[in-house]
Amino acid sequence: MTVMVLIGAQWGDEGKGKATDLYGGRVQWVVRYQGGNNAGHTVVLPDGQSFALHLIPSGILTPGVTNVIGNGVVIDPGVLLTELSGLEERGVDTSRLLISADAHLIMPYHVAIDRVSERYLGKAKIGTTGRGIGPAYQDKVARLGVRVQDLLDPSILAQKVEAALDVKNQLLVKIYNRRALDRARIVDEVLAQAEGFRHRIADTRLVLGEAARRGEHILLEGSQGTLLDVDHGTYPYVTSSNPTAGGASVGSGLGPTSITAVLGILKAYTTRVGSGPFPTELHDEWGEYLRKTGGEIGVTTGRLRRCGWFDAVIARYASRVNGITDYFLTKLDVLSSLETVPICVAYDVDGERVEDMPMTQTGFHHATPVYEQMPGWFEDISGCRTFEELPANARAYVRRLEELSLSRISAIGVGPGRDQTIVLHDVLSGS
Ligand code: IMP
Repeated sequence: MTVMVLIGAQWGDEGKGKATDLYGGRVQWVVRYQGGNNAGHTVVLPDGQSFALHLIPSGILTPGVTNVIGNGVVIDPGVLLTELSGLEERGVDTSRLLISADAHLIMPYHVAIDRVSERYLGKAKIGTTGRGIGPAYQDKVARLGVRVQDLLDPSILAQKVEAALDVKNQLLVKIYNRRALDRARIVDEVLAQAEGFRHRIADTRLVLGEAARRGEHILLEGSQGTLLDVDHGTYPYVTSSNPTAGGASVGSGLGPTSITAVLGILKAYTTRVGSGPFPTELHDEWGEYLRKTGGEIGVTTGRLRRCGWFDAVIARYASRVNGITDYFLTKLDVLSSLETVPICVAYDVDGERVEDMPMTQTGFHHATPVYEQMPGWFEDISGCRTFEELPANARAYVRRLEELSLSRISAIGVGPGRDQTIVLHDVLSGS
């Protein structure tokens, strides 16, 4: 049995869909454990069809896989239904999707507050996706949240929405100068939406626990990335959940000792969307080059991603906080045809060389990259299927990243297609 956690090692958008694609066909379960429709996975099928998924686990595209939206996820019911019908219209079988009774719901007031509070923050804004993620998690922690199971009891649902709206309407009207929201309307709307998915509601921690006991392979699929984690990320420019590997246990209900592998997805360079510090960010033509060549535009928001060179300080940090056993290095092909490829090996923080993530926010803000230059390669590597087929300089680049990142690289992405991957070690079989 393998319970594998798949997480983004940087700021998200590392190309996780491609890794789920590699292993999704050989696992019985794919589970989302945190986040919501702030995520965006693009999966390209062998026939060239491309799917952008936001909320539903990417295993939905693999016949025979059961997909779970775990207790740690926040669900916008309208988005769930739209995504389901979009898949069904394209002929995808969605019957194998279970939803945790304990997952929290994103309500219309969460979306309203997310958008208006960002506007009020002005220059200090987080750059959220505006999907209501932060406010939904705030309510979860404040014990004011509405859970999926509340949809099964209309009177409890009405009470919970009323309790939440007592506070939210004060906030919307008195602080943000917006219109108050109507309880009855919200309750009617979500109850109607629930009809579309109530048959999927399940005690998913029990179901998953039993699957693990039977020895089935389970993939716990993280969204966002290590540096967007509310505890371990670049706070306050983070999302409101725990994408790091520990969150996989909390957000699925599978105990930590059942996790047998942690696969970190690591892009061969670095990107970030939204605000916040980014030491290797490039504001010149090279940043533009990476953006264009790598197609660095957000799947969820359509925003242009900020781009920079590979940062080994971040990779080392990700290895540590996630207990990464293996890396899947993505988008190596994007770096083809550069004379030299810089790698950030350490930071200079106020004149001092720092090898690890600075302890304070100020330290990270003041970090300037210390670069090592690696010789580039000009060959098209998108057809390579073994490590040996890669040009010598590309191999040296990969080996250097591995050395600096403190975890082995087990797979390399050389193009967006499903088969454009070099596998060095098989994480599922351990070979
Ligand atoms: P929120 O998750 O919408 O609250 O946004 C908080 C921060 O996380 C913002 O900087 C977003 O741009 C970023 N973020 C959220 N989801 C993703 C993702 O899937 N990929 C990359 N960044 C994300």
